[in-house]
Amino acid sequence: MNLFLVLCLVCAQIALSFKLNMVADGRRPLMGGNWKLNPKTTLEATNLATEVAKLTKGVTDVDICIFPPHPFLVPVYTKIEATNVQLGGQNCYFESEGAYTGAVSTCMLRDVGAKYVLCGHSERRSLFKDDDGAINRKVKKVLKEGLTPVLCLGETKEEYEAGLNHEVCAVQVMKDLKDVTPEEMLNVVFAYEPVWAIGTGLVCPATVAQEVHQFIRSLVVKKYGTEIGKKTIIQYGGSVKPDNVKEIMGMPDIDGCLVGGAALNAESFNKIVRFNQ
Ligand code: PGA
Repeated sequence: MNLFLVLCLVCAQIALSFKLNMVADGRRPLMGGNWKLNPKTTLEATNLATEVAKLTKGVTDVDICIFPPHPFLVPVYTKIEATNVQLGGQNCYFESEGAYTGAVSTCMLRDVGAKYVLCGHSERRSLFKDDDGAINRKVKKVLKEGLTPVLCLGETKEEYEAGLNHEVCAVQVMKDLKDVTPEEMLNVVFAYEPVWAIGTGLVCPATVAQEVHQFIRSLVVKKYGTEIGKKTIIQYGGSVKPDNVKEIMGMPDIDGCLVGGAALNAESFNKIVRFNQ
C-alpha cells in the first residue's frame, strides 16, 4: 500500500472520530451520573468515584459529571478533583442562609467543588413537591452562584399516552426559565427525561426522544434566538444503558445523557461515556 493511501485512511479515520465525538453544531456531549439515594457508605461512594475516574481517564471529548448524595460530596471530590470527572449536587435551596432546616445552599455546593446542580428532577417534582415556581428560583440561584443548572423536564406516562409530551415540556421550559437572561441561558443544560422511562427499563424510542429534543431546542430558539438555541446542551435521561446509548447519541439534537441505575456501576458508566469508541 503506498504512502498516499495510508495517509488517506488515517485522515478518514480522524474525520470519522471527530464526527462521532462532536454532536451537531459543535456541542460537547455531557454525560452525567445521577446516583440518587445511593450508595450506602462513604467507602462505597469513594470507591465508585475512584473507579469512574480511573476508567474514564483519557476521555477528552466528553464532559463527565457525577451527582453523589450531599453527605458524600466532600469525600468524593477528594477522589476526582485532579481528574476529568466533575462534581454535581442533586438538589439545592434557593435561599442563601437562615432558618431552613434540611436545606443545602448553592454557595455550600460551590464551596465543596460542585459545578453542576440538578434542578427539577422528576423525583423531586413528584415525591418532594418541587413546583415550577420553586424550580425557577433554584435555576436562577444556581446561575447567580456561577454554577450550571441541569434543568430536568419530561412528561408522565399518562401525558405521553395522551400525546401531550410537547405541551408538558413547553410549560416546564417557560415556567422554569422565567426571567433567565440570554447570557445566563448559555449556562443552562436541559435533561429531557420522560418520567415513564426513568428506572423502568422502558426506553423512549430514540426517534421520539429526538423529536422532543428538537422541539425543546425550538422553544429556546424562539425565546433566546438561534445562536443560543444551537449552543444549548440537551441531555436525554431514562434507562440509558451501554447497549442503547449509541443509538440515542446518534440523534442530532441529543447532546448527552443523564444516567441513573447504570451510573452506579463504574464499568457500565464508562461504556456510556465512551459511547463513540
Ligand atoms: P435511570 O434514571 O437511568 O435509572 O432511568 C435516570 C434519572 O433519573 O436521571
